[in-house]
Amino acid sequence: MANETLTITDNRTRLTYTLPITDGNIRSMDLRQIKKDASDFGVMGYDPAFMNTASCRSAITFIDGDKGILRYRGYPIEELAESCTFLQVAYLLLNGELPTDNQLHDWEDSVRHHTMLHETSKQFLEGFHHDAHPMSMFISTVAALATVYPDSRNIHDAAARRLNMTRLIAKVPTIAAYCYRHSLGYPYVYPDNELSYAENFMNMLWRMVEPKFRANPVMARALDILFILHADHEQNCSANVMRSVGSSQADPYSSTAAAAAALSGPLHGGANEEVLKMLDEIGSKDNVPAYVKKVKDGEVKLMGFGHRIYKNYDPRARIIKWTADQVFAVTGRNPKLDIALELEKIALEDEYFVKRKLYPNVDFYSGIIYQAMGFKPDVFTVLFAIPRTVGWLAQWEEMLTDPEQKIARPRQVYTGYAERHLTTEQKSTPQSATANR
Ligand code: MLT
Repeated sequence: MANETLTITDNRTRLTYTLPITDGNIRSMDLRQIKKDASDFGVMGYDPAFMNTASCRSAITFIDGDKGILRYRGYPIEELAESCTFLQVAYLLLNGELPTDNQLHDWEDSVRHHTMLHETSKQFLEGFHHDAHPMSMFISTVAALATVYPDSRNIHDAAARRLNMTRLIAKVPTIAAYCYRHSLGYPYVYPDNELSYAENFMNMLWRMVEPKFRANPVMARALDILFILHADHEQNCSANVMRSVGSSQADPYSSTAAAAAALSGPLHGGANEEVLKMLDEIGSKDNVPAYVKKVKDGEVKLMGFGHRIYKNYDPRARIIKWTADQVFAVTGRNPKLDIALELEKIALEDEYFVKRKLYPNVDFYSGIIYQAMGFKPDVFTVLFAIPRTVGWLAQWEEMLTDPEQKIARPRQVYTGYAERHLTTEQKSTPQSATANR
């Protein structure tokens, strides 16, 4: 057995420390014993943006960024996208195993039972301006659900946790659809619980006066696959927020709203909206070389390429490209796909991008599909938030049941003033609020 320790010599004191290595890592707290003298706080790891910091131990999602591997509870994303439904994958992420037929039946029935929104949520939504950004409406409405379900504060009660997790998973498509209908000035469409998760979402989005919505099966399956691909991604920015807010023992609705707020940023879930803007700016396949030159000259960013973890092709992007072909066979080819394919072709051959390991990520093609399906770009991030609610909740519950976890409270490296005092001029008797009236 290799000696699973790390020996560190502090050259300030010539003292040597031996730290245990567990799962290939050291505990940062073991660094605190390294002091220059008895009054010293001890050594911390300084790691802006947590580039090399593990905040938790998790069994939910595994990513190997160098090899372009993504697995949910050990299953390759490619197999899940090909052979499972989103609700099967949601069950897997939440429970650790794929459901049996009976478990799936009960799970689907339970989700269907909670798709309706409390009528006050509709009144809440009516308060938004018609052109309010759908993601802002989504975040606010999810947070407001905490007012409808005060029992959600019982975060140590497993049954209460699971009830509110199911409510959230069931209601986020309804919220998203209502936000979409509000932005168009259309009446809300109630859930139709005879339909699948994706079909019901499409029903609430697009049903008009027909008595029964009939989803195109190719489009419904494509949406289901897109939901599977976006369900979880280990400790991404929004999952980190979910864990951090949840660590204060806030309710799951408030924690999910916070996570969705993180997702709304253009560097995270908003990236697919930025990709569409970039493709619009490029305008045509012939303009791609000139745009690539501007990227290399640092004049513009190449959205949808590169990733903090993946230094290879994002496996989700590859599946999305396949799904795009299925959707375009129904909707007609989105001309932006030609621009995107040319951009990818040039980028994958150009040493500038290859050296920087900039490959297409999940956002590069997802927006093209969503646009072809009829979604406006400002809805794309909401389409990301729906499935990611499952991942956020799985991460949240794993954090709450981890005996090592407590309220998240990082340290800092202080760079401000040393102690200083008010000058005589600055000192004055605090005036009462009513003085000199
Ligand atoms: C995600 O799926 O959350 C994005 O790829 C961002 C990430 O994982 O950091």
